[in-house]
Amino acid sequence: MGNPLRTAQDRRLPRIPEPCALVIFGVTGDLSRKKLIPAVYDLANRGLLPPGFVVLGFARRDWGDGDFESLAYEAAKKGARTPWREDVWQRLSSQFQFVPGSFDDDAAFDHLAATLDELRERNGIAGNAAFYFSIPPAAFPLVLNQLNRTGMADNAKSGGWRRVVVEKPFGNDLKTAMALNQLVDEVFTPEDVFRIDHYLGKETVQNILALRFANSLFEPVWNSKYVDSVQITMAEDVGIGTRAAFYDSAGAARDVLQNHLLQLLALVGMEEPTSFDPNEIRAEKLKVLKAISLPADIAAGSVRGQYLQGWVAGERAVGYQEEKGVPQGSTTETYVAVRLGIQNRRWAGVPFYVRVGKRMPRRVTEIAILFKRAPHLPFDPADVEMLGNNQLVIRVQPDEGVVLKFGSKVPGTTMEVRDIAMDFQYGEAFTESSPEAYERLVLDVLVGDRTLFPDAAEVEQSWRVVDPLEEAWTGTQPEPYRAGEWGPRASDEMLAREGRAWRRA
Ligand code: BG6
Repeated sequence: MGNPLRTAQDRRLPRIPEPCALVIFGVTGDLSRKKLIPAVYDLANRGLLPPGFVVLGFARRDWGDGDFESLAYEAAKKGARTPWREDVWQRLSSQFQFVPGSFDDDAAFDHLAATLDELRERNGIAGNAAFYFSIPPAAFPLVLNQLNRTGMADNAKSGGWRRVVVEKPFGNDLKTAMALNQLVDEVFTPEDVFRIDHYLGKETVQNILALRFANSLFEPVWNSKYVDSVQITMAEDVGIGTRAAFYDSAGAARDVLQNHLLQLLALVGMEEPTSFDPNEIRAEKLKVLKAISLPADIAAGSVRGQYLQGWVAGERAVGYQEEKGVPQGSTTETYVAVRLGIQNRRWAGVPFYVRVGKRMPRRVTEIAILFKRAPHLPFDPADVEMLGNNQLVIRVQPDEGVVLKFGSKVPGTTMEVRDIAMDFQYGEAFTESSPEAYERLVLDVLVGDRTLFPDAAEVEQSWRVVDPLEEAWTGTQPEPYRAGEWGPRASDEMLAREGRAWRRA
């Protein structure tokens, strides 16, 4: 996908990386156990890893390779998407190594550098290594300095490629993001920096571009002439789990609006790229991010919420304030709704309502394009009342698919019309199963394809959208909503004032 010079036939061949090492910092952490290790197993199971592939786990524990292997075994077995094959695991895990150490421990990083050198010959990895930062952002500078000091980030010195993968949150605001970008770019060449936004690795998110640009049906109506409004919803039924320390200092806007949601908005709003070259796609997304407008009155055009105790899917859920590790009286938001706009010819006047929330009734992420109503409806006024807007709904997850809603005649002897849905579901339309987002993204890092990774400019531009919101919200109290509700009432009122309502997702 990334290289425009690859022929169409090439593009269908499986992409196998060159022999290489994947170094995971923070390998005992949540992300590594839940996503990275299972992704590596799934790649191995699909035959997509190169011979000699090694995983080097780096973490503070005083462990040996054996301990690391058993943690990895549990993690892979629990999180794997593909069927379990003991022989695949045995072969893969025989190439796992653990390097214990803290991030300020020079000796540990010297040891890591020496290990990579050894592997050059032993596993034939030719100096190729990707460093995955699955660590708190506060530790980034330390690790980057260590990689710099030991020469591990140096392509020329390594004799192969050296890449770095940085997990979000990428900064806490524009200022910190810029400082971080500068630091990363001082150590690695910009083409070797992969900033992860795992939403871009989701099959349904990539399909936004296919849906828009592989068809002639949608594009002519994809503009303010036909579109009334767009609603982007990311609802989670879960709470904050064990992440209070991070979450309370971030809140929903920094956690997911700044990245996942604005990336979805950019994909929906962007112009057709001249090719699927990563730079072309990024350039188009960046233009949209730059054209985003905030509500003139942020207090009226946005709602911040925080969940109270309640019931979600038949289970009792504690309120945010009662979650372990949340400081008393915290005003951090677990819900955000905001009315954004895109100031360009295509989208002028079309509101983009974006909402994200924890402890909602169920997990659903979707993008709904709501079309204007027909200029004239020659039907019984009672029927016209019943007809909603035509809608194109891209269901990102779960029940991945696309739904088109439109009016149809009810069978019978009278001209009665009603809304119906035409439903495309991945599970029914394709026999191929979708790879997990991390599986796709880890493979992309190893083959060097940056298409699905936002660049520094996109990250910074997204902070330019979120920073003024954060500033306007300073000192305000979030609106309460019960766990198991679709956010605070104020959020419904915000749309009602404009004669609209949230879609029942
Ligand atoms: C992460 C956020 O980026 O995305 C989490 O930090 C959130 O708060 C998660 O739960 C949701 O990811 P997904 O893939 O389950 O929608």
